[in-house]
Amino acid sequence: MRRIAIANQKGGCGKTTTAVSLTLCLKDMGHRVMLVDMDPQGSATQCLCPDRRSLEHTVLDLLVDSDGVALSDVIIDVDDNLAVLPSDIVLSTAEQVLAGSPGRERRLKGVLDELDGTYDFVIIDSPPNIGLLTFNVLMAANEVIIPVDPSLFSLQGVAKVTEALELLERVNGHKAISRVLATMYDSRTRISRELLSTLRTRYPEACFKTIIRSNITLKESTGFGVPITYYRASRGFSDYHSLASEILGNDPTQKSIEVATVANFLAPRRIGGGILFSFVDPEAHEVLVEGDFNQWDGRQDLLLDVDSKGLWQRVVALKPGKYRYRYVVDGTEVLDPNNPGTEYTDDHGLVSIIEI
Ligand SMILES: Nc1ncnc2c1ncn2[C@@H]1O[C@H](COP(=O)(O)OP(=O)(O)OP(=O)(O)O)[C@@H](O)[C@H]1O
Ligand SMILES: [Mg+2]
Repeated sequence: MRRIAIANQKGGCGKTTTAVSLTLCLKDMGHRVMLVDMDPQGSATQCLCPDRRSLEHTVLDLLVDSDGVALSDVIIDVDDNLAVLPSDIVLSTAEQVLAGSPGRERRLKGVLDELDGTYDFVIIDSPPNIGLLTFNVLMAANEVIIPVDPSLFSLQGVAKVTEALELLERVNGHKAISRVLATMYDSRTRISRELLSTLRTRYPEACFKTIIRSNITLKESTGFGVPITYYRASRGFSDYHSLASEILGNDPTQKSIEVATVANFLAPRRIGGGILFSFVDPEAHEVLVEGDFNQWDGRQDLLLDVDSKGLWQRVVALKPGKYRYRYVVDGTEVLDPNNPGTEYTDDHGLVSIIEI
């Protein structure tokens, strides 16, 4: 049973749409799937069970171990291969109700352990913050998909989820594979293009090849509770179908976001009389660095290919101060994959920043 969490603390980045659409596509491909709604907004529940106005029991009963409520009392069987562990607004009390109780971040894991073997996939939707509910989600999952819509906050959310996963590994020895998914992609906008190239450079192994394009049918189908699998001609269906195929083809034990250990070495660093910029791309033909220090004209500061592994480097003489910059790889602008410092600027869009 693969347990896949969808998480990012940034609100509205496509978590629920991804959870619901992926669930439906996997079911459509013949798999037994359960969606666990761990967001008190209950949007995934409303989407998959639109006729349930009020819920007798929710996932909260299982997390707090309510007297006499069994797993089978809570699960809604939508059809043969699709089940939902629903939630509603009352789930927002979980933090208070579970305060101080031991192992409170493992409750969902315990619930899912009981189900092992019943489903091929459990997909878990999470709320837009990193609190007790999200810790429960991450702890219960073996794989985490982090949807990233075209916004800087969404990109920052990737770091927050990976930090939370690191914490769970350190404290509880729990390991989960994380991958990023570009959502609401619109090739006409610069921020979409920049963000995608940043995701692909920063997380080359852990970025899904599938991109979820911005699509009105997807918006409407989730809004009205009509399964995206009814709209086979839509981009939304084809993108999530492709995501499901990629997940089925992926070896779930590989390709996680690496916590950047090499990053410090490759981030810009002081050397001799200047700052050493480094960028790795064995396939690139030309890499430039451009920024405040060269009037954003990278032609003056071509990076030199100094080794056969594709390490491009250049020392730029810089006075103390704050500088904005980015790399241009074969004509495409990308953020520095090894420097988490980024800023959105009116004149140059998303850029990397260094302070000397
Ligand atoms: N690919 C897409 N194209 C167009 N609209 C989309 C797409 N994905 C999601 N949306 C719309 O964007 C809005 C936010 O999406 P969604 O609810 O999935 O985000 P979320 O991360 O779950 O939000 P929250 O953090 O509030 O739970 C919704 O109105 C949804 O229909
Ligand atoms: Mg949501």
